[in-house]
Amino acid sequence: MHNDILDSLSDYPFDRLRALLNTTEPPAGVTPIHMQIGEPKHAAPEFIAPLLTENMSEWGRYPPPNGTEDLRSAIADWLVKRYDLAPDSIDPSQHIAIVSGTREALFMAGLLAVPTEKHGVQPTVLMPNPFYQVYVGAGALARAEVVYLPAGPETGFQPDFSHVAADDLKRAALAYINTPANPQGSVATLKQLKTAVGYAREHNFMLAVDECYSEIYTGEKPPGLFDACRELGGDNPFANTLVFHSLSKRSNLPGLRSGFVAGDPDLIKLLLRLRQYGGAQVPLPVMNTSAALWRDEAHVEASRDLYRAKFDLALDMLDGKFKASRPGGGFYLWLNVEDGEAAAYKLWAEAGLRVLPGAYLARDNADGTNPGAAYIRMALVHDLDTTHDAITRLLATLA
Ligand SMILES: Cc1ncc(COP(=O)(O)O)c(C=O)c1O
Repeated sequence: MHNDILDSLSDYPFDRLRALLNTTEPPAGVTPIHMQIGEPKHAAPEFIAPLLTENMSEWGRYPPPNGTEDLRSAIADWLVKRYDLAPDSIDPSQHIAIVSGTREALFMAGLLAVPTEKHGVQPTVLMPNPFYQVYVGAGALARAEVVYLPAGPETGFQPDFSHVAADDLKRAALAYINTPANPQGSVATLKQLKTAVGYAREHNFMLAVDECYSEIYTGEKPPGLFDACRELGGDNPFANTLVFHSLSKRSNLPGLRSGFVAGDPDLIKLLLRLRQYGGAQVPLPVMNTSAALWRDEAHVEASRDLYRAKFDLALDMLDGKFKASRPGGGFYLWLNVEDGEAAAYKLWAEAGLRVLPGAYLARDNADGTNPGAAYIRMALVHDLDTTHDAITRLLATLA
């Protein structure tokens, strides 16, 4: 006896990648380069080491489920500065929930938003295609119908709500947006964000905006949900919306498991109730460390400089091949190699370069085509020399 929905979720991209590549070995003597996973590798800021080890007695206490006041006020200050908000517009006790990384919280968004029925029928959960895999698990396990919105070149690699069928929109309980997007690196414009908020309010669904890559950019600072809410204004400027932020990518600390959700106070209240039952609290020393990280921008700027140097190098070497271009944000190269799965196999077998086929991050369209099929995703998380080595191998193998 088990939850049969899990049977439909058996194709997690990294499982599929292992099945594809574990039948072969990289050539003898070649040191593998792993670029399949978005695990930041820049050094974490040194100032956190003492913070994690002082107050050891705090490991012996259950942390408050919604975090410390200090952490919530550090986050409120960060939001005000980052999104140019009025200083009193974020109430740390009402607008913010502390979460142990955004993956869990993005999953819980499904349980939070999806009712048993909407207008007497099964609700839908809308998400871009390709997409971060947690969204589909969240929608399916909340027993909604998952509806995929094309996010390819024709829509600027972001979903377009005006193309959603009227019935799917009417039944919508939740929609995900990811900006900057994994895997394409596309950034939703302020207009697109405002339009999405408008749809959420008009059709009364929850808009979940995943901004975990918001601080990784090499050009202009990407706009976010709170820019849209600020411009839209109103009595409840965050109504129907939640934004998800994390220290994993911003501060190169995916192992810290520290993030937050902010937005509509009614939704935050319900999220806290949900987390009382099934949420992992963030340990107190991690919360103290997180507060210091949200208060520091120097390490974030230094990290951005490293990504900028790597994109400069990689794009210079690629010189437009595989339709390579500078993403609006994030740290992925999303390369059109015509057949991503065949390219991933060849790169591993012939060059010891491990990348992810784009098809594994997307679902097939009704006509059987897959919007990720032509692509590979490469995470530019290593140092400059390794990046140079990886692009050299890529060019030599696929040229
Ligand atoms: C788009 C996207 N959202 C959310 C996450 C989850 O990040 P974390 O749980 O580390 O905050 C990831 C991690 O790779 C991601 O790519």
